[in-house]
Amino acid sequence: MKSILITGGAGFIGSHVVRLFVTKYPEYKIVNLDKLTYAGNLQNLVDIEKMPNYSFIKGDILDKELILKLFNEYKFDGVIHLAAESHVDRSITNPLEFAETNILGTMVLLNTAKNFWQKNFSDKLFYHISTDEVYGSLGSEGIFTETTPYDPHSPYSASKASSDHFVRAYHDTYGLPIVISNCSNNYGANQFPEKLIPLSINNIKNSRTIPIYGKGENIRDWLFVEDHAAAIDTIFHGGKNGETYNIGGNNEWTNIELIRLLCKIMDEKLGRETGTSEKLITFVKDRAGHDLRYAIDSSKLQNELNWKPSLQFEEGLKKTVDWYLTNEIWLNNVVSGDYQNYYNKQYN
Ligand code: NAD
Ligand code: TYD
Repeated sequence: MKSILITGGAGFIGSHVVRLFVTKYPEYKIVNLDKLTYAGNLQNLVDIEKMPNYSFIKGDILDKELILKLFNEYKFDGVIHLAAESHVDRSITNPLEFAETNILGTMVLLNTAKNFWQKNFSDKLFYHISTDEVYGSLGSEGIFTETTPYDPHSPYSASKASSDHFVRAYHDTYGLPIVISNCSNNYGANQFPEKLIPLSINNIKNSRTIPIYGKGENIRDWLFVEDHAAAIDTIFHGGKNGETYNIGGNNEWTNIELIRLLCKIMDEKLGRETGTSEKLITFVKDRAGHDLRYAIDSSKLQNELNWKPSLQFEEGLKKTVDWYLTNEIWLNNVVSGDYQNYYNKQYN
C-alpha cells in the first residue's frame, strides 16, 4: 500500500498520470490536488473519478495549512508534482504568477514533505516534473543531456529552472529523496487549446487562421502524452534517488512542417479537398525570446530504466485529431468564455 499525492492532476499531463496510476495500481491510494485554474478540468477524469483508490481535492499548492493537513490525513509516501502554470505566452504577460505557483508552490510542497518525512526518509520520494526548456535554446547542432547547463529564457522556463534548483537543494541540504525529469513538448488528448497543436486543430476545424510565430522555423521534439505518463511511472518506481532523467520523443519538427502535416491529416479527417487547411496558415509576430530549437537525449532513461516512446508521430497526431473531433463538447466548453478574451488579446 502506497499513498501518493499527485499535484496538477486535472491538467493535461497530470490527468494521464492520474489515470495510469489509479488503474494500474489499485493497491495505491491516489490523491489528486488541483486548484482548477483555467487549465484544470475535471472532465479529463470522469472515467476514473469513482474509483475507490482515488480522491480529488480542490486546492492550491501555495496553501501551507492545506498541504500539511493533507500530509497528516493521507500520510503520503510519495509526491508526483505536476501543478504549474505551463504556457510560455502567458508567462510573458504575467510573469509573477509563474514565480508564485512554480517556485513558491514547489517550495511549499518540498518544505512540507521534508518536515513530515524528516524522521524517516526511507521509501519516500518527491518526484518533480520539469521541462527541457530549462536548458535554453540549441542551434542546428547539439542535444540536451542531463548535464547540459541551465540557460532558461522565458519567465516560464526560468520559474521551472528555479523550482528544479530548489528540489536539488532540498536533496543536498536535508537529504530529501528526490527525482526530477525534464521532458520535451507533449501532445495528445486533453491539452488546453492555447498550445500549438490543439489550438491549430480547433482553428482548422472552424476554418480560422492558424497563427505561426515568425517564420515557423523553430524546432520542438514532440512526445505523445501517454508515453510521458509511462516514463513518469517508470521513473517513479525505478529512478535513483537524487537523479535527473531526460524524456523525449527523438522526434524533431519545425513548426511549419508539423502544421503542414496536421493540415493534411485534418483535410483527410474532415473530408476536405487536400490543401484546404494549409491555406489557413498565417505568419504572425514572433514570440519574444523565442527559443529556436529543443532536442532531448533520453538515452539515460532508455538504457538504465528501459523506457522508450511507443508511437510514431503521424500515428499519434492522427489519434490526437480523432480525440478532438470526437470530444466536441469538451472542446466547445474550454473555448467558451475566458478563452475568447485570451485569444483576442494574444492574437489581436
Ligand atoms: P497544464 O497547464 O495543462 O496543467 C496544470 C495543472 O496544474 C492544471 O490542472 C491547473 O489547474 C493546476 N494548477 C495550476 N496552478 C496550481 C496551483 N497553484 N495549485 C494547484 N494546482 C494548480 O500543464 P501540463 O501541460 O499538463 O504540464 C504539467 C507539468 O508538466 C508542468 O509542471 C509542466 O511544467 C510540465 N511539462 C509540460 C510539458 C508540456 O509539453 N505540456 C512538457 C514538459 C514538462
Ligand atoms: P507551445 O505549444 O506554446 O509550446 P512551447 O512554447 O512550450 O514549446 O509552442 C510550440 C511551438 O509553436 C513554439 O515554437 C511556439 C510555436 N507557436 C506558434 O507558432 N503559434 C502559436 O499560436 C503557438 C501557441 C505556438
